[in-house]
Amino acid sequence: MSVFEDVAFRRHQSVHFFSDEPTGMQAIIAIHSTDLGPALGGCRMVRYADSSEALTDVLRLSRGMSLKNSLAGLDLGGGKAVIMVPDGWNNDPRYDGPERARLFRAFGRAVDSLGGRYITAEDMNISVEDATNMRKSTRHVVGLDSGMGDPSPLTAQGVFVGMRACIARAFGSDSFDGLTVAVQGLGKVGWRLCEDLHKAGAKLLVADIVEETLARAKAEFGAQIVDKDDIVTAK
Ligand SMILES: NC(=O)c1ccc[n+]([C@@H]2O[C@H](COP(=O)([O-])OP(=O)(O)OC[C@H]3O[C@@H](n4cnc5c(N)ncnc54)[C@H](O)[C@@H]3O)[C@@H](O)[C@H]2O)c1
Repeated sequence: MSVFEDVAFRRHQSVHFFSDEPTGMQAIIAIHSTDLGPALGGCRMVRYADSSEALTDVLRLSRGMSLKNSLAGLDLGGGKAVIMVPDGWNNDPRYDGPERARLFRAFGRAVDSLGGRYITAEDMNISVEDATNMRKSTRHVVGLDSGMGDPSPLTAQGVFVGMRACIARAFGSDSFDGLTVAVQGLGKVGWRLCEDLHKAGAKLLVADIVEETLARAKAEFGAQIVDKDDIVTAK
């Protein structure tokens, strides 16, 4: 990627690349804006094809955080972090070996080096335990058991009430009864969202890459399973 010219980079304040040889940690922290306050945004670990894909992801997400935080009226800017899955983790972001705790302490040092311009939290494949390990190296982390804990139930609730506001506007009623909703990814956020939608009477179309999760969604919500490549256009 030619960084400065890339549309995803536009208006970012800074982008930071970190590596820590002993733990194999390779991470990128993007700070889109600190105009309203410290840049808050979670940290995700997913399987990227290469660092260029990771960079595109973090730039896109950090800009989104500036918009989300300002729309929510918070005195916070927008930032985001991505960590590459290290060699030796079998390409599994949920790898649970002893190296995991060390890697998140190293990531905490990276966050700390930014002096509070960026505040991190959980995102995809990052647990409260991972955040607790970051906390051993920095105080600039939220989503700990001693604080608000795992943010994913609130994230799901935010999506649900956002959808309700949209359908009220589009259809003149905020009832999900009789509506069909497609959900891609039934993890911490997606599963909770499906629970809320199911309770509210929506019919669910779902896609995930884990067969067992799909079978549970079919059993618990009567959800219709759709191929992940078709879910965006499914009706
Ligand atoms: N967890 C949070 O509090 C939080 C906060 C803000 C935003 N988000 C966003 O919400 C989304 C979900 O986050 P999460 O924490 O629930 O992650 P998660 O890792 O718990 O769940 C992700 C799910 O998606 C599935 N998946 C992966 N690739 C897929 C594909 N190509 N097609 C269909 N399913 C696929 C996985 O199997 C898993 O079930 C992410 O975009 C994340 O950035 C999460």
